[in-house]
Amino acid sequence: MIEITNLTKCYGQLQALVDLNLNIGQGDIFGFIGPNGAGKTTTMRILATLLKPTSGKAFVDGKNVLKQGKDIRRVVGYMPDFMGVYDDLKVFEYLEFFAAAFDIPSKQRKSIVEGVLELTDLQGKKSAAVDSLSRGMQQRLGLARVLIHDPKVLILDEPASGLDPRARIEIRELLRELKKMGKTIMISSHILSELEEICDFIGIIEQGRLVFSGTMDEIWRKMGTHSKVHVTVVPEHREKAIELLNTVPEIVEVSDQGSHIVVDFSDGQVAGSVVAKILVNGNVDIVSIEPAKMKLDDAFLQLTKGMVH
Ligand SMILES: Nc1ncnc2c1ncn2[C@@H]1O[C@H](COP(=O)(O)OP(=O)(O)OP(=O)(O)O)[C@@H](O)[C@H]1O
Ligand SMILES: [Mg+2]
Repeated sequence: MIEITNLTKCYGQLQALVDLNLNIGQGDIFGFIGPNGAGKTTTMRILATLLKPTSGKAFVDGKNVLKQGKDIRRVVGYMPDFMGVYDDLKVFEYLEFFAAAFDIPSKQRKSIVEGVLELTDLQGKKSAAVDSLSRGMQQRLGLARVLIHDPKVLILDEPASGLDPRARIEIRELLRELKKMGKTIMISSHILSELEEICDFIGIIEQGRLVFSGTMDEIWRKMGTHSKVHVTVVPEHREKAIELLNTVPEIVEVSDQGSHIVVDFSDGQVAGSVVAKILVNGNVDIVSIEPAKMKLDDAFLQLTKGMVH
């Protein structure tokens, strides 16, 4: 649904995007992750036809961003990182204004606006002034706005930034709902953990280059986190447990972390059962055995570590 080949964007001397290649399939939720200034907004603005690339190609729904801007704007809903402020407008007026801008006939506008208000759970705020809404509600209104023309593709630039945990969860639910409706979604964030649960694929961009793309599982595998398990046993059995675990040939490292023992396997497979078996046979009382889950943000730091421009 989105195809990017050798996309480069220069702002004067600065190369904001360098030979970027990316494919996003129909119906996928793609998480675009990167630190400040990595080039996320630049990429998204090019896809939304608001910015011209210096070189390279980009297609949305088979349409060329350079030549078919008008067609692309019909299929894309782009939510910018900063929304404009519209004084003195009520929520429904604001949405009706955008419906009119998309040439939706006036007879249909009302029902379409009702529809997106329901989807984004904003019915209760229909007659509230736009500038009186809380940040979370404004973000939802931003989403309602990009849904007005029923776009196939949603390009959302940090839709969850500045939201409290509850509002983040609500946005996540809404995105799941939109995925069910068959939308293709590209969503940016610099917080990897924020996107972990909803994205089918992740792309990590740094200094205009894609440093990693793949599924969450592939990220974990690459980081080697799949090979570790955390074992907790009753304190009086800890020493014995460490001794026993050290005798297993597949285990390359056993380290005592005080509260738990970290066991690292050589073949990259989590083998909690191996651990359980040897400890049970050795009469060690186990409290828990669980796969190690490295924090996503640590994974992100590791993946981008040492990347120089
Ligand atoms: N209009 C512009 N003129 C000059 N440089 C720009 C312009 N827009 C962006 N840049 C530069 O291009 C690079 C990429 O910026 P971009 O906004 O795409 O990053 P981003 O990944 O969206 O960052 P953030 O997480 O802070 O939103 C940055 O170095 C930025 O300073
Ligand atoms: Mg940005």
